Amino acid sequence: MIKSIAVMTSGGDSPGMNAAARAVVRTAIFEGVDVWGINNGYKGMLDDDMQQLTTRSVSDLIQRGGTFLGTARCPEFKTAEGRRKGHDNLKKHGIEGLVIIGGDGSLTGGSMLSAETGIPIVGLPGTIDNDVWGTDYTIGADTAANTAVDAINKLRDTASAHRRIIIVEVMGHTSGWLAMTAGIAGGAEYILVPEVKYDLDAMCEEIKESYSKGKRYSIIVVAEGACSAMGLGKVVGEKTGIDTRVSILGHIQRGGSPSVEDRMKASMLGEKAALAIISGVTNVVFGFDEGKVVSINLFDAVNNKKTLDPELVRLATVLA
Ligand code: ADP
Ligand code: F6P
Repeated sequence: MIKSIAVMTSGGDSPGMNAAARAVVRTAIFEGVDVWGINNGYKGMLDDDMQQLTTRSVSDLIQRGGTFLGTARCPEFKTAEGRRKGHDNLKKHGIEGLVIIGGDGSLTGGSMLSAETGIPIVGLPGTIDNDVWGTDYTIGADTAANTAVDAINKLRDTASAHRRIIIVEVMGHTSGWLAMTAGIAGGAEYILVPEVKYDLDAMCEEIKESYSKGKRYSIIVVAEGACSAMGLGKVVGEKTGIDTRVSILGHIQRGGSPSVEDRMKASMLGEKAALAIISGVTNVVFGFDEGKVVSINLFDAVNNKKTLDPELVRLATVLA
């Protein structure tokens, strides 16, 4: 049995990372295993910036967004030399297994560290983008979707007051999940995502026609990976002749207190991850499939690209 593990968060932060790390720490301690926190993702691993954690280290955290461990993007970890240096630091502290909470990039880094050094790795999908293959849930995506919907609700008020078109740009990197989910839940008329082709002329004609019949406003949600919202706003304004504004939600979507769903699921995943790594399981990612915790092979998770659920695309079209 492994006697000392480490936990880290990496890549873009997401609400619920704290809840997941807290569950890893408390589970490990409950099982009598030492647990280290690595600060600032792979950067901290390379800089030997890590400390042993106690139950108290994770007090007053479950309700907080961000990550108490800090996170970073670390280009040096993409080199074999960087990963060797990181592994040397883990060995120096007697760390025998690692729980990585992050997105597909962070999990890719973990898979390479595991393949090259043999250190046991368990991953948890932590990203607002919900773009990790093999799991229909990633930590933070629910909170981010709620934040985006809250913004859309507010934008509707002002759009309606002025009879404007409002284009709302939502994050998601190359995935349309966040835009699609926020768009459906926010009742948007159009949702533009990178996975689906759209006909700009047809959309503008439809909007013009609906305004001529008395419609007061239109909300277009656009995923950042689909096109530039600013560019789109200019074209839509010109083509429709309707006053158009663009609102880019940006990093506000990454912050805030995690939703109940994110707290609960992150806690469940954190416990699973700690128990797995302690008992010698390696190269897995824990996620959810239809409401149940599942384990996915780490290499499968990072070598496959998640696709957007066609049911969501269909629903968005029907409800628009
Ligand atoms: P996310 O984990 O949210 O997808 P990134 O893609 O920025 O975020 O990845 C976070 C970090 O993971 C990178 O800064 C790098 O240190 C590491 N990483 C990403 N891709 C790789 C890779 N192909 N090989 C090794 N490490 C990687
Ligand atoms: O992966 C999470 C994410 O917020 C993406 O949605 C977005 O494209 C990116 O990170 C933004 O990264 P940065 O923090 O470097 O601005």
